[in-house]
Amino acid sequence: MNKIKVLVTGGCGFIGSHVIHKLLDYDSYKKIVNLDLLTYSGHPENCGDITDKRYKFVYGSINNKGLLTKIIEEEDIDVIFHLAAESHVDRSIDSIEPFISTNIDGTRCILEVIVEMNNNHKNIKLIHISTDEVYGSLNKDDKPFNENSQISPRNPYAATKAASDHLVLSFVNTFNIDAVITRCSNNYGPRQFPEKLIPLMIMKMMNDENLPIYGDGKQIRDWIHVEDHVDGIIAVGEALDKGIVSPGEVINFGGDNEKTNLEIVDKILQLFGNTESKIEHIKDRLGHDRRYAIDSNKAKNILRWYPKIKWEDGLRNTLKWYIDNTDWAKSITSGEYRNWINKHYN
Ligand code: NAD
Ligand code: DAU
Repeated sequence: MNKIKVLVTGGCGFIGSHVIHKLLDYDSYKKIVNLDLLTYSGHPENCGDITDKRYKFVYGSINNKGLLTKIIEEEDIDVIFHLAAESHVDRSIDSIEPFISTNIDGTRCILEVIVEMNNNHKNIKLIHISTDEVYGSLNKDDKPFNENSQISPRNPYAATKAASDHLVLSFVNTFNIDAVITRCSNNYGPRQFPEKLIPLMIMKMMNDENLPIYGDGKQIRDWIHVEDHVDGIIAVGEALDKGIVSPGEVINFGGDNEKTNLEIVDKILQLFGNTESKIEHIKDRLGHDRRYAIDSNKAKNILRWYPKIKWEDGLRNTLKWYIDNTDWAKSITSGEYRNWINKHYN
């Protein structure tokens, strides 16, 4: 397909903002529309530096089918990269309602609009961004999850992501839509909201505060730099377009980089050179998954995709980004950017 017109949902969030910046590097994308509700984790500044005329921001919700239809019709959208979500496990334990609303019902709205548009002679492609958490938890010696692993979510966030994956697959089967699902492990990098492990620990070290580790800190995650994940997401979009992957396929992405939470925090302490902040073991997260690990051989074989950014380089650059962008961190955690939304949109 020449000159693709894209809708990115959640483009002011962590991963979505990297998707948009990366898409703009390619001439083949003629238009990139970002639909984002600017919730607590979506900051307008995450795409605020973009001056490229191909980019357009629309403030609004994926749960608004009228708005989705209008964007797709007016902008003649070909492909949707769907990243809008409630993304934090701890918040889903406190209150699941927004997770059901955004992750399940919001995805339902996107799927229904695609069917309506396709009945109107469009052929919209959907890249649905999901997570390795839908597979559940591994023991120490288990093999990493692959695309055929059983879906077995164990926390409310993961359950809503799994439900949205099932909805997508059911629409592929029932309504013949062109959709694929990607499932990635833990991302790190610039512009991640400082509630997630790595940016939270960096912010705490910057303030010489203690570092809260849930339980024994020996839980394992597979860490991947956000730019490697984004390369994979874009490669999946191209592969769907070329027929290299088929509707209904799932593709996993991981960093081949399993670390315990204690290893992560020790490494950041070392890179930071901080001697004031101390690790503090606190009450464990309810239902805390012990280990995630991802087998990305399918992506490597089919897409010729590989994670390129070395862990230590990626972590060092991430640390530097947070140190250089203290105003961003202050603004996003205080929510003061909401004044900007009120001024522009309310
Ligand atoms: P994030 O919380 O940083 O960003 C989510 C974005 O979605 C925000 O900009 C928010 O304003 C927007 N949003 C929320 N509700 C919306 C709605 N109703 N309508 C429009 N926009 C809305 O999340 P993230 O870490 O960038 O995650 C993006 C996607 O990637 C999610 O689907 C998540 O499940 C998935 N994922 C994340 C990771 C990770 O490590 N962060 C790993 C694998 C998969
Ligand atoms: O695996 C992919 C998932 O990774 C994504 O789908 C989610 O959107 C993303 O939030 C992330 O989920 P996790 O729960 O793994 O990420 P989080 O950064 O919240 O936690 C990482 C690990 O660190 C986890 O074992 C919990 C632990 N932790 C986290 C925080 C915030 C702590 O020990 N202390 C903390 O303060």
